[in-house]
Amino acid sequence: MTEVPLPSGREHPVTGAEAACMTCHQGRASGATVDKAIAGQPDDEVNPELRFINPHYAVAAASLLGSAGALGYQYPGKEYQPRFLHARPVATCISCHEPHNLSVAEETCLTCHDTADSRQIRISRQSYDGSGNLQQGIHADIGANRQRLFVLMADYAREVAGTPMVYDPGSHPYFFADHNSDGLADQREGAPVAYASWTPRLLKAAYNWKFVGADAGIHVHNPHYALELIFDSAEDLSAGLGRDLTDMAR
Ligand code: HEC
Ligand code: HEC
Ligand code: HEC
Repeated sequence: MTEVPLPSGREHPVTGAEAACMTCHQGRASGATVDKAIAGQPDDEVNPELRFINPHYAVAAASLLGSAGALGYQYPGKEYQPRFLHARPVATCISCHEPHNLSVAEETCLTCHDTADSRQIRISRQSYDGSGNLQQGIHADIGANRQRLFVLMADYAREVAGTPMVYDPGSHPYFFADHNSDGLADQREGAPVAYASWTPRLLKAAYNWKFVGADAGIHVHNPHYALELIFDSAEDLSAGLGRDLTDMAR
């Protein structure tokens, strides 16, 4: 294989064993899937036909490729981090992951970083989560901003879409209606009621929120693509709520 076809319709050039990793770890949807579902619909109008679009899981190649893969929901007019090439000795999947057991050897990181605990590593000299803490790993900024994005999603679902929403990671389709706001999914005939009050704006943000969470290594694979997707989703939802987005940087 010299190219891997992606759910965005793009073909990404590959060499060697990485072709295998990228074929399976690319996810099953893209920004284009979301755009197709919401085409021509007003941003804040509930459309009961809309369903959550799931990027799938372990989407490591999708995040690593960044805007070269266009597998996150990329907001028009914004620029996104392309493939994260990191540094020459660690540019491909199999330069970090031992291809037969998938583990990452600690020595791989220690040539350049002073710890091999990927969650503690930080190069960025900017704080993204409003904490001002430049000692914590970039993993913490991503986690904090993603959590804030979820709060915005929940506020928007209640205040603009008109139906409170809860998330259950262990149950398809993950987002459920919670009319009485007790933090638990509504039940109908013994089954949880899927969230059915999606607006285009909420669908885009939920897709990105799930996308970033669907790659447990996104802080290594493409931390700045993750931060950009979260920021733009949070900014867009804030606009829908008529609020300013503060204490979050792109
Ligand atoms: C045929 C499809 C396929 C290919 C090819 C593939 N993977 Fe996976 N990989 C999966 C699936 C599916 C899982 C999740 C398994 C599970 O959840 O039990 C996974 C899990 C993983 C994990 C997590 C392992 C763990 O212990 O939790 C890593 C890391 C990984 N893959 C890296 C790679 C790398 C690197 C390559 C290329 C050398 C690769 N994969 C090729 C399908 C694939
Ligand atoms: C710079 C080194 C590096 C590169 C390049 C890299 N990974 Fe990873 N990957 C890691 C590290 C480190 C983790 C573990 C992060 C953690 O759990 O803290 C990880 C995590 C993962 C996971 C999640 C495992 C889990 O626990 O769920 C998958 C899947 C994965 N990588 C696949 C890939 C694939 C596929 C590629 C190429 C597209 C790739 N990685 C490229 C270092 C790398
Ligand atoms: C050859 C040197 C080199 C090696 C080896 C290396 N890195 Fe990096 N790493 C860098 C450089 C340089 C950057 C900054 C790249 C950039 O932002 O363009 C970086 C950035 C990062 C970041 C993002 C930090 C931030 O604040 O944006 C993480 C996380 C990271 N590396 C983890 C790892 C892990 C985990 C390993 C081992 C699997 C590893 N790196 C191996 C050089 C290296």
